[in-house]
Amino acid sequence: MEFFIDTGDINEIKTAYAWGFVDGVTTNPTLVAKSGKKNEDLIKEIAEIVDGPISAEVIALDAPGMIKEGTELSKIHKNIVIKLPMTKDGMIACKHFSKSGIKTNITLIFSANQALLAAKNGATYVSPFVGRLDDVGQTGMDLIGEIRQIFNNYGFETKILAASLRHSQHVKECAMMGADTATLPFKVIEGLFAHPLTKNGLDQFLADHAKSNK
Ligand code: G3P
Repeated sequence: MEFFIDTGDINEIKTAYAWGFVDGVTTNPTLVAKSGKKNEDLIKEIAEIVDGPISAEVIALDAPGMIKEGTELSKIHKNIVIKLPMTKDGMIACKHFSKSGIKTNITLIFSANQALLAAKNGATYVSPFVGRLDDVGQTGMDLIGEIRQIFNNYGFETKILAASLRHSQHVKECAMMGADTATLPFKVIEGLFAHPLTKNGLDQFLADHAKSNK
């Protein structure tokens, strides 16, 4: 299972990447805006730190615009994955990039049918947003299961990149459902380390060590 960090914060990327199990980075226009940097500049900076897939999202809404913008972004580094919205134009751009051997990540996936269309157009990743489905009263994790079944049925190689994951339980459930990849905010990654018994156990070991070394 791949783990990506979902952020535009360089310090968070450096810190999490040093932990060793982070394979790549996803960004989106909201995260880029938070960074205060230009999209291209931020993506260049990330590519100097992380040797793995880096999703860079286009802003254009029309297919020619997406293709132009995505082509420019893809020139930044070999690890760039072009992030496109799940729209009709996004599908045209996705097909174009698939044919050109450029990796894509189709974002804002909220139904299994949307994921199926993206897979048929050769998307490298589809990004179902689990937390945002939970927000509107659906069970976001069900979508991961549905897409897994459909992709398995037909042998699609498109990877399921579970996104909008908000807590550790989401991460575990995605892994159990067979998501290929999970993209996680820094706080969620940090939360994966935590267990009170680990802390209590370590405190006890250190206390015992201190006693025996008096
Ligand atoms: O990668 C998508 C993710 O950033 C969306 O997360 O928490 O805003 O739904 P959220």
